[in-house]
Amino acid sequence: MSKQTKTIRRRDALKVLGCGTCAIAAVSSGCTFSELYSDFEGEAVDVDLGRARYQDLQTVGEMVALDVGPVKLNLIRTDEATLVAIERICPHLGEDMAPIGSSPTARGMYMNGQLWCTAHGSYFDLEGMVVGGPTNSPIQVFPVRFTPEPSGGFATVYVGVAPPVDNAEGES
Ligand code: FES
Repeated sequence: MSKQTKTIRRRDALKVLGCGTCAIAAVSSGCTFSELYSDFEGEAVDVDLGRARYQDLQTVGEMVALDVGPVKLNLIRTDEATLVAIERICPHLGEDMAPIGSSPTARGMYMNGQLWCTAHGSYFDLEGMVVGGPTNSPIQVFPVRFTPEPSGGFATVYVGVAPPVDNAEGES
């Protein structure tokens, strides 16, 4: 496969608009979020783990795919108190690292604290850095605020927008 073909596939997978020269190594080559998703203003998404759609995330080690506008990511329950939101389009050839079985094209697994693209064996840590496999490009991680509760818990995922700044303690 030619480099040009790979670039186009990556661009298509990311719905890249306006950062054409750095599409295949989007994150590592310095493209900003707004360059990658220029038609998308960003969004904060609320996730209720009590809903059937997200119920798997009540179990540590589970992963659920979530689309926020054009941005495709996985939510991963990494421990009792933590949800990680991480890009799920593999920078190697653009395969979807959604949990295997969640769709016919899903190629992702969460295993041993890493996100694995089973298409050709790229591994990423939970900061999005490449651990192994054929890609050299990291993936993006998004801020999450998560409040676990006995019935599941609630999270807000900030995609392309910054979380609000907390007031200092004691400030009125
Ligand atoms: S597309 Fe993920 S490793 Fe090739």
